[in-house]
Amino acid sequence: MRKPTSKPAKTSTLTRQRFAIAILAAGKGTRLKSQRPKVLHEIAGHPLLAHVVAAASQVVAPGNIFAIIGHEAERVRHALAASGINFVLQREQRGTGHALMEARSALEGFEHVLVLSGDVPLIQPETIALLRDFHIAHAAAMTILTAEPPDPTGYGRMFRKKVKGKETDEVERIVEQKALRGKESGQREVNSGIYAFATKPLYSHISGLTTDNAHHEYYLTDMATLLGKAGRKVVALRAPDSSEVLGVNTRLELAELDASLRDKKARELMLSGVTIFRPNTCDIDADVEIGTDTVIEPFVQLIGRTKIGSNCRIRSYSVITNCQLGDDVLVRPGCIMEDSVIHNGAQLGPYSHLRPGSEIGEGAHVGNFVETKKTRLGKGSKANHLTYLGDAEIGEGVNIGAGTITCNYDGVNKNQTTIEDEAFIGSDATLVAPVRIGRGAYVGAASCITEDVPADALAIARGRQVVKEGWAAERRARIKKTK
Ligand code: UD1
Ligand code: CA
Repeated sequence: MRKPTSKPAKTSTLTRQRFAIAILAAGKGTRLKSQRPKVLHEIAGHPLLAHVVAAASQVVAPGNIFAIIGHEAERVRHALAASGINFVLQREQRGTGHALMEARSALEGFEHVLVLSGDVPLIQPETIALLRDFHIAHAAAMTILTAEPPDPTGYGRMFRKKVKGKETDEVERIVEQKALRGKESGQREVNSGIYAFATKPLYSHISGLTTDNAHHEYYLTDMATLLGKAGRKVVALRAPDSSEVLGVNTRLELAELDASLRDKKARELMLSGVTIFRPNTCDIDADVEIGTDTVIEPFVQLIGRTKIGSNCRIRSYSVITNCQLGDDVLVRPGCIMEDSVIHNGAQLGPYSHLRPGSEIGEGAHVGNFVETKKTRLGKGSKANHLTYLGDAEIGEGVNIGAGTITCNYDGVNKNQTTIEDEAFIGSDATLVAPVRIGRGAYVGAASCITEDVPADALAIARGRQVVKEGWAAERRARIKKTK
């Protein structure tokens, strides 16, 4: 999500007027056809509401932000708990106007309230600040942020007052899509659902809203007419970029906004020196950082707080979540990695699975069908094939043979395996934890190791080989006779 660059000044003389931000987030999102509340649907790896909260937090302190929640309120509250914002419950969702009625006691103490929509996630802090400043400069009771998107269908339309046929800043009314009549549907300027209100006139007139409309809801948009009739000033400001105020009402729009954010992220990375082949096939979350000259092949997902150093190559079909990669790391195709640290020059894959708590040392190799969990593999160590390493501390220069398994779970507890520097574990060894393999020790192939192995020793724990000369030929002869 956005970095706290805090461009809009929080301390300008204008903001001394005490601004709250209310975010409308109580609706069900019927058009998404989902069990999940609309504002928790995600774009670029974060819930819609989290994008709006991040932008709002750049303009006012989180303590002055009030999310109005209702549908699945506890889920929404829980998802945003760490943000430090306040929540107001709108028990029944009777419209955007009703949402502000329910928030009256929270907002009345502020001189102004900026109203954002939980389903308009691309709004930028600079634009919120622009709206705030325009609202103050016009001494307006209500200021409406508008836009002219390529397709205005579905949005409420803005009708401005005209003087001698020319449009002014002042608003006549907003007409919802369903109420548009005749030529009105040709109106291209839309209501973004983002507003600034002076709190006093808002709450002196809000009781004038009615549910006399297609949805039988209290429309916040009707405040424009109400305040206008009361002789209060209602103005409109066009957003500098209409794409910022696109709303999400359907899954189609959800995918479009997700794609536009991902596209933006990929562009930023490419301009900062990262090669991304076929960027539209890659999903890179907003917080991901990548160093210069790193190459990202097609169909890669980089999720959460992943940080990748310089000169790495991430090959196709890898999914990397919350990992730290050093420089010169090679991730071959099909690796799944989560909450892990990979040091400089390490090589992974194809098809390695690094589960949480894995740390792969400098220049170490983890190969195909190797799974690690809570395991540290030291510098230059290798586990190249078909292996499970769980709860293991492995030193430097260790060779883990194909098919080695740490038996870390005894049905009750997880136990630790320690393998000291330069040890050699033969193929198909099973290491029954807790167990320690000493420095430089050898473990014979196919051994089942249940006791510690001292440094520089050889441990073999398997049945001795028996050879029965001629046995196979005799058997074949026996079978032939009985036929
Ligand atoms: C609204 C505007 C429309 C504008 C559009 C921009 C109204 C009546 N219409 O329409 O003019 O063009 O946004 O995107 O306001 N919500 C609540 N409580 C409720 C109802 C809704 O908190 O009782 C929240 C929703 O969760 C959502 C926001 O308010 O985040 C907007 O509601 P929605 O139903 O999506 O309004 P639109 O039909 O998009
Ligand atoms: Ca909407």
